[in-house]
Amino acid sequence: MAGTVGLLTSGGDCPGLNAAIRAVGKAAQDHFGIQVVGFLNGFRGLVHNQTRELYGSVLSGILTYGGTILGTSRDKPHRMTIGGKTRNMIDACVENYKRHHLDALVCIGGGGTLKNALRLKEAGLNIITLPKTIDNDVVATDVSFGFDTAMGIATEAIDRLHSTAMSHGRIIVVEVMGHRAGWLALGAGLAGGADVILIPEIPYDAEKTAQAILTRSRAGRQFSIVAVAEGAMSVDQAKTVCELAAAKQKADSKSEKDKATERLNEFHRRHVNHTVELTENLERITGLESRLTILGHLQRGGMPSAADRVLATRLGTACAELLNEGRYGVMVAVKGDSTEPVSLEKVAGKKNFVPPDHPLIQSARLVGTSFGD
Ligand code: F6P
Repeated sequence: MAGTVGLLTSGGDCPGLNAAIRAVGKAAQDHFGIQVVGFLNGFRGLVHNQTRELYGSVLSGILTYGGTILGTSRDKPHRMTIGGKTRNMIDACVENYKRHHLDALVCIGGGGTLKNALRLKEAGLNIITLPKTIDNDVVATDVSFGFDTAMGIATEAIDRLHSTAMSHGRIIVVEVMGHRAGWLALGAGLAGGADVILIPEIPYDAEKTAQAILTRSRAGRQFSIVAVAEGAMSVDQAKTVCELAAAKQKADSKSEKDKATERLNEFHRRHVNHTVELTENLERITGLESRLTILGHLQRGGMPSAADRVLATRLGTACAELLNEGRYGVMVAVKGDSTEPVSLEKVAGKKNFVPPDHPLIQSARLVGTSFGD
């Protein structure tokens, strides 16, 4: 198939996006003769017809750059804020797709992007997606690119925090990204030898967490590192979320559902500061001086690791092959040494959570890490 395809990056940025853009672009154009048009700032560029040509020299030299040369946003085409109003812009996407005579659209993104991609598929567009996210929470793929780099950055931070925690005999709580899934806190916590790892999938008890720290302290280790995912929750907080989610599920009118959704959103908005409270609680219960470090967007910035460059290149070139074969409506997933197309219906709206009996959890427990449970 020689033709033209569109390409956009959407959702939170992550290291490896440029490597993926380069791989799709080079393989599609140089190998299969398919032209590639980039849309700027995620689905916003598709809605407003903002483009950037992705020819040879634009793709050259970007393999190692962080971020995305196309820009990104969290805009959802079916619910965009335009002129202060929320509007469904799916028709505008279809129109611009046709305006450029596209044969397909490649969407590089995580969970939110998959849902948007499926909506566009249902509107009649040919779509292929590539999984990227530092959270590693996309289902049906062994891994997503961005995760390895973020895990390396968070691990280095934990390594560095060890010496200052040790020098002062302090507890250092380090907040790692991961709103719903704890892969990043688990991976970096394990690699960095954190003494406690708290993740959303295993609700924690602050008393038990403090006791694990005091047990170390009694054994002569006066400092502790607590790696906590930004979405980790205490047992009580997890119970509240379950109740709010159940109320949303049960709501039988639209207005009741909207109210329940707002209550759930409000809980998550307020939960943002929970690591401050956790740090204070640990200091109060243990009597040990405590400090909090929030890694935040540092984990998403800068050069991709070698593993993420390789992964993004594998996924991008596999995508170009699918474009050439005309196989659409799929996400390119990683399966061992290979890749495989998985239908969008199978992956959109789902999340890859850490199973509480995952072998990594077992390994961590065996080396004495507490999960606060
Ligand atoms: O999309 C991944 C992620 O980095 C999450 O880990 C984090 O909760 C979120 O994005 C932060 O989003 P934003 O950059 O839009 O504040």
